[in-house]
Amino acid sequence: MVDLSIKCAGLELKNPIIAAAGPNTKNYDIVKKGIDAGCGAIVVRGLQLRNLDEKPPSTREFWNIYHSDKTFRRGLYSFQSAAVKALRVNRDISPGVGGASPRPTLQEWTSEVKRMVHYAHEYNSLIITNIGWCGDYFSSEDLWEAEAIAMDKAGVDALELHTGPCPTVEPGRYIQADPEKYLRGPIRTIRKITNLPILVKLPIDCCDVISLAQIAEDAGANAIVPTARWMSINIDTGQEKTSLWPGLMGYGGNWSVPILSAYIYRMRQRKPGTEKLGWKSSYEGQYYKKITIPIIASGGVSSGDDVVKLILAGANGVEICTQILVEGYSLVKRILKEMKEWMQKKEYYSPGDFSGIIRLVEPDQVDKVSQPMAIVDEELCNGCKKCISPCTNEAIIFLEKINKAKVLVNKCEGCRTCYYICPQGAISFKESLENEVEKTKEWRN
Ligand SMILES: Cc1cc2nc3c(=O)[nH]c(=O)nc-3n(C[C@H](O)[C@H](O)[C@H](O)COP(=O)(O)O)c2cc1C
Repeated sequence: MVDLSIKCAGLELKNPIIAAAGPNTKNYDIVKKGIDAGCGAIVVRGLQLRNLDEKPPSTREFWNIYHSDKTFRRGLYSFQSAAVKALRVNRDISPGVGGASPRPTLQEWTSEVKRMVHYAHEYNSLIITNIGWCGDYFSSEDLWEAEAIAMDKAGVDALELHTGPCPTVEPGRYIQADPEKYLRGPIRTIRKITNLPILVKLPIDCCDVISLAQIAEDAGANAIVPTARWMSINIDTGQEKTSLWPGLMGYGGNWSVPILSAYIYRMRQRKPGTEKLGWKSSYEGQYYKKITIPIIASGGVSSGDDVVKLILAGANGVEICTQILVEGYSLVKRILKEMKEWMQKKEYYSPGDFSGIIRLVEPDQVDKVSQPMAIVDEELCNGCKKCISPCTNEAIIFLEKINKAKVLVNKCEGCRTCYYICPQGAISFKESLENEVEKTKEWRN
């Protein structure tokens, strides 16, 4: 028996899969699809208001998918989105990037969100609303406060404060400014006006996201959501220009899972008093602490395996955006099935049983690590010799008589290069060096 439910920031979710704010959560109809697919919660997109009374004009939003098997063996994609009007650096014109769509007034949006909450609760799902705090560029403080109050009245289960800068207009905001203004201040303001749990979405762009997590926890966040998209450009060498959006833009993709896992691991497992915070100003000289509030990982999730990896690293749940856009909400059913299968196989009852159990080797333990080494399966080796020259230790020799590669185990350092190169899949790794050394001796005799 497997129970996928999690407790997080005072909320009970029937499973750890949350639809992240994006085009897939921009109105009632699409949110309903996410609930029907079985999401534990949905983060509904924010309004990013410019004016309380006016009905904001609709913005067209663009995103592109870049998929190149040539560049990345594991079917990697990049992703980018922008609202055209965000590129016009003119506050009078821009109603903000993305946002709820078609763009409603706050009043209209509040009733639409109420309907979402009603539907979600009927199916044991939760509604979290993203408050588009993109700094004072898109929405002034009184407007996003008004939005938070309205969402509370609409009955949402939690708020997600998006503290990330808009990559188009505010690159590297956190490295230029004190997070007091962009992180601590907004969290405290929201805390004063609502008792709802506050999830704080942290940006990755040029940021020390681990410091930001700590600042958010200290300021009263109930959970953190690292991270959003990565500021990137993707260059087409043939055309000598960017292959997707012509400006700086945020990218995501499955490649971000290992990077995100490392951030989460470091947030959870940091040894107290070992590293100082990255920020100058009010945090100068202070040490990092471990992050103790729930972590909802957001970035690159596209399978049950990705969810398991992030939970093993220390996350409690995940948010997914891009892969839902690519695959539709049926993705959620697939992921839940894959997660259940993995947990059954491993005999875990609940996600909490394996959250954060991964331990990395500390520098002082490196000597104790037993390095697995390569062995060649003679049945599978076809004598192609592709593994010989890449071995920088000259640990693979070729036996002409039998037309097979062989590994000199006492020379092999276990780098796994040959394993990835072998077209036949004839090379595997064995943990116990001693046994293999004995075998090699026999074979050489
Ligand atoms: C087209 C698009 C629009 C997005 N809009 C928002 C948004 O309005 N608010 C927000 O907090 N995050 C937004 N995001 C970020 C996602 O919620 C998510 O954090 C990010 O894309 C990383 O996750 P993923 O790899 O699963 O896409 C958007 C992402 C995309 C791709």
